[in-house]
Amino acid sequence: MLLFYATRDGQSRRIAAHIAARLAECGICARPRDLAGAFPAAAELAAAPLVVVVAAVRYGRHLPEAERFFATYRELLVRAPLVFVSVNLAARKAGKDAAAGHQYLRKLLARHRLKPALAAAVAGRLDYPHYRWLDRQIIRFIMKMTGGPTDPQSCVEFTSWEAVDQIASRIADLHGCAGNRGKNGDFRPA
Ligand SMILES: Cc1cc2nc3c(=O)[nH]c(=O)nc-3n(C[C@H](O)[C@H](O)[C@H](O)COP(=O)(O)O)c2cc1C
Repeated sequence: MLLFYATRDGQSRRIAAHIAARLAECGICARPRDLAGAFPAAAELAAAPLVVVVAAVRYGRHLPEAERFFATYRELLVRAPLVFVSVNLAARKAGKDAAAGHQYLRKLLARHRLKPALAAAVAGRLDYPHYRWLDRQIIRFIMKMTGGPTDPQSCVEFTSWEAVDQIASRIADLHGCAGNRGKNGDFRPA
């Protein structure tokens, strides 16, 4: 299995690492790889039983390296089972975690004409002190409009690690892993 991420502030990398750790408990090896580095060879993608991409959103679009990855490998990705996880702050709201309820996800899949086996949105992290001044003001304004935190000192992790576990569990199912699960199909600690 191949597992990629696209990040600027690290939350998508942490989510990809969490998925990798859960999969490892199930005996599936998937080392998270940064799409900002070298892209994989086409042959590697063609041979992969499953491709997982975790990518952050900036100003309404997924990071350019994720867009480039989908544009470059679209033909291969329509054949290989694909899992796409979008990381953003809109997903902190109930009902915005599935492709159907999520405009960034819907638009990306339509743009690249992709039909992933699983597409989900996961809430990311808000970290005002870390942002540049203009980004901080714009995001505070968006948060004000959408009922989120506006205190410029706020640093809030909205990510539901339970939701990430569920995504990892579904990835393992797609990979055909049956072992190491609880009654509800949840992962049990190794
Ligand atoms: C400059 C900037 C722009 C952002 N734009 C959006 C956006 O348009 N929609 C959204 O839901 N979240 C947006 N976010 C929130 C990020 O998607 C969120 O912080 C995510 O955790 C970032 O992932 P990363 O840490 O992997 O880079 C933005 C964050 C920053 C810093």
